[in-house]
Amino acid sequence: MIKTAKDTRFRIKQILSQHSADRAGLIPVLQDIQTEFGYLSQEAIEQLEQQTDISANEIYGVATFYSQFRFTVPGEHIIQVCQGTACHVRGGQRILREFEQRLEIQAGRTTKDGKFDLQRVACLGCCALAPVVTVNGKVHGAVTAKKVPAIISQYRDQGGNS
Ligand code: FES
Repeated sequence: MIKTAKDTRFRIKQILSQHSADRAGLIPVLQDIQTEFGYLSQEAIEQLEQQTDISANEIYGVATFYSQFRFTVPGEHIIQVCQGTACHVRGGQRILREFEQRLEIQAGRTTKDGKFDLQRVACLGCCALAPVVTVNGKVHGAVTAKKVPAIISQYRDQGGNS
């Protein structure tokens, strides 16, 4: 659902009411904003600046320090390719390369059509299924490079959160 400026202002006000609205509470506030909106938009940061005494420059300074925060709209489908030890020894790197080639993006990027985010991650906690890929949190185990096109096409025509 598209959020209006009024929605953004209201949600940020609610988020701030659950944390200390000062520099010490900034990271949890940013985490909640990202959970709510999917990323830290310029509008959200401007709202945060207006509703606290923290400048947008300071907010960007803190947020850019942590790789968990993103500043662009996320893709509809989030693909995570495990590069933890168990997955690495079973070809995780080759699988990641296959996704990069098929989607024509590097890990950490979003496809031009906004359909996919490709992320390189450490252990996803299900090493017995290595090599592991998740799409929107759904686990695909024993993935091979040959299975990559089928995984992509399974999600390409679907909306988000499938
Ligand atoms: S190393 Fe990939 S799930 Fe544990």
